[in-house]
Amino acid sequence: MNAIEIRNLNKSFGSKQAVRNLNMTVPQGAIYGFIGENGSGKSTTEKIICGLIHENSGSIKLYCRDHTDPDVRSRIGVLIESPGCFPNISVWNNMMIQATNLGIKNPEKEIARVLKTVRMEGAASNKFRNCSLGMKQRIGIAFALLGDPALLVLDEPINGLDADGMRIMREVLTDITQKDGRTVLISSHILGELEKIATHYGIIRHGQMVKEMTAQELEVNCRTYIALKTGDMSRTKRLLQSRYARVEEDESGYLRIYDIVPSQEVVRFLYENGIVTSEIKSAKINLEEYYVDLMQEREGR
Ligand SMILES: Nc1ncnc2c1ncn2[C@@H]1O[C@H](COP(=O)(O)OP(=O)(O)O)[C@@H](O)[C@H]1O
Ligand SMILES: [Mg+2]
Repeated sequence: MNAIEIRNLNKSFGSKQAVRNLNMTVPQGAIYGFIGENGSGKSTTEKIICGLIHENSGSIKLYCRDHTDPDVRSRIGVLIESPGCFPNISVWNNMMIQATNLGIKNPEKEIARVLKTVRMEGAASNKFRNCSLGMKQRIGIAFALLGDPALLVLDEPINGLDADGMRIMREVLTDITQKDGRTVLISSHILGELEKIATHYGIIRHGQMVKEMTAQELEVNCRTYIALKTGDMSRTKRLLQSRYARVEEDESGYLRIYDIVPSQEVVRFLYENGIVTSEIKSAKINLEEYYVDLMQEREGR
């Protein structure tokens, strides 16, 4: 079953069309990385999913039901913008205020459960203002987890995290989905970090979904390539282009061959043409490069 299924979603603010004919499919249990530049329409889409703003047209199904269905609405946890916390009171008391507002039954037990999930059980008595950025962002996730939602919508929760904060966040999100069977929609423009977390991706540009894919598909798309240097790069480039389908120069001055071909074959081919290879390596393009490539294709370079 899909946790989220959006078809032909449109939303305008005055004359500004923030979301246009957007389609999105998020399978149950996924960590769906929703990627796009600032202003591309991520937050608007998320707010519509959560019922915080209304769409102009389109269909939004959550667990096969209309997103306005109260039963389904009560199964969504949201973190859009920062959690409304009081700086001078403890994490625990902030959680208690939120739990009371939400009408959570048995709040002590529920707060203990969610703080444990976000690795904050040892910091419950800390004042909110004394928490690190990583802790504050995890408190936001704890807020979203109150009431045991099936779907979490998290808007840019990994901005500005250091390596340690990132590692804990990754563990928390993996636990939430794999151990607890929840689905997470997580928006970001930090591609490199999402790459280590997400099981699915959706790339949005100017309010439109450009591409959706699984992490496995990304793996295939982010092909391995061979990068090399020789003493005569311009002749090497011509030679390689005459033989291989996609040969490009990268920013570091290497020639890249994107076809699947053994390095020895390339070295031999160049040698037979009087060119000595001084350096050769194989690597994979990462999510960041893939994204830039895809965007450039869209621009019709
Ligand atoms: N309440 C609003 N009023 C007017 N324009 C808005 C409003 N919310 C968002 N927009 C515009 O819609 C576009 C998409 O914004 P947003 O969804 O916040 O993008 P993202 O979250 O990807 O950065 C932007 O051009 C933004 O300026
Ligand atoms: Mg946003």
